[in-house]
Amino acid sequence: MAENILIISTSLRSGSNSETLANEVLKGASDAGNNAELVSLKDKQIAFCKGCLACQKTGKCVIKDDANEITEKMKNADVIVFATPVYYYGMSGQMKTLLDRANSLYISDYKFRRIFLVTASAEAEKETAEKTIIGLKGWIECYPKCVYAGEFLGGGFNDPNEIKGNAGTMKEAYEFGKGLC
Ligand SMILES: Cc1cc2nc3c(=O)[nH]c(=O)nc-3n(C[C@H](O)[C@H](O)[C@H](O)COP(=O)(O)O)c2cc1C
Repeated sequence: MAENILIISTSLRSGSNSETLANEVLKGASDAGNNAELVSLKDKQIAFCKGCLACQKTGKCVIKDDANEITEKMKNADVIVFATPVYYYGMSGQMKTLLDRANSLYISDYKFRRIFLVTASAEAEKETAEKTIIGLKGWIECYPKCVYAGEFLGGGFNDPNEIKGNAGTMKEAYEFGKGLC
């Protein structure tokens, strides 16, 4: 059955390796017959969460910027894929800021049930993204109707567009996208 898959690409740089992977995942997910959409945080205005917790009463964030539309898309997706560069072994600051700003989801009847992670990093060791995964799992723990469903790690890519020169990794990302559902 076709599912609604939301891919959130959080790198802000042009020639982003994680966004390139995210686009391959998008192609794979679409070719598998799903309704897949990629949202990039490039050119989006997303302020830090102020911690006022008004969203826990009203279901809405008091800050009016692009986070609200993305939060709504997250709420209605069956599957969410987060793509991030590994920064100091963790997720990008902009990804963390989005997760915080999506705090209205906590009291909502969110639909997402499976969460995936796509990373790009300079280092290729298996442990490079370990803390990035743990960070995302911390968010998932707060949404008990969903589970962490797996990751695609693009390790060993540092320069912009570097991943495009690796046809094998691109193909693997496409296949990962095909197998999401
Ligand atoms: C602030 C910053 C911190 C980084 N920290 C790490 C790191 O801890 N481990 C690593 O392997 N690469 C690290 N990198 C390299 C990026 O993960 C790498 O360049 C990646 O390809 C960027 O993905 P993007 O092109 O999607 O932005 C860091 C880069 C920046 C800018």
